Amino acid sequence: MDLRPIGVFDSGIGGISLLRNMRALLPKERFIYYGDEKNAPYGTKTEEEILALSRRDVDFLLSFDVKAVVIACNTATSAAAKSLRSELSLPVIGIEPALKPAQLSRRGGAIAVLATPATLRQSKFLKLMELYGEGAIPVPCPGLMEFAEKGITQGKELDDFLTELLEPVKSLSLDGAVLGCTHYSFLAGAIRKALGGVRLFDGNDGTARQLRRVLAERQLLSDAQEGSVQFYTSGDAESALPLMEKLLAYPIEL
Ligand code: DGL
Repeated sequence: MDLRPIGVFDSGIGGISLLRNMRALLPKERFIYYGDEKNAPYGTKTEEEILALSRRDVDFLLSFDVKAVVIACNTATSAAAKSLRSELSLPVIGIEPALKPAQLSRRGGAIAVLATPATLRQSKFLKLMELYGEGAIPVPCPGLMEFAEKGITQGKELDDFLTELLEPVKSLSLDGAVLGCTHYSFLAGAIRKALGGVRLFDGNDGTARQLRRVLAERQLLSDAQEGSVQFYTSGDAESALPLMEKLLAYPIEL
């Protein structure tokens, strides 16, 4: 048993969508959540920049004596998970686009994979495509995370943005869409509407289960009476922290 907290980071508020699943599955754990708002977005940066920022995020979390690190960001997982795992002695859990479950439920139609440009061009994703990419169409979504970051999860501005962004896949016969960026789970309703009601997949549940598995294997689970969440940001705490609290309770319907 281990009462130390679990460190979680993302470029901003996106990872809170994963934090919700982790909280539900591991209610006795303490979570330290760090959003690197000051340097967001990560998804339009180079691999080297994302790795350097991820190392700084981890350094911040290590100052809380965390027992594990969760990279609650598909972009940072692709660019940094491998290096961080070789540099750290504690477990590092990452998230990747949920292409496998989407593929398993495919019925001959196409699957749109929405993610940041950085996630989609990296070898981690290309390998995933080799395994589960049949019928999958990658859709880079620069500019989309910014809506969630501003707390805009519905409305005309977002609908118009999505209509234009998703135009290339809208006419296809889609069986589903993968939300390959943790920010997009907060935009699920608007994305479903823009795609005409398809089934959506995110990697949050699978990643939360992986965290529980790893903690259990290493006897790192907490047996505290109850867990907690503490939020930190590199950005403007006055605007970011209340939004983080709000999103922890925001209903997500995939
Ligand atoms: N939330 C992030 C992800 O899962 C990235 C958003 C960004 O910083 O571009 O990919």
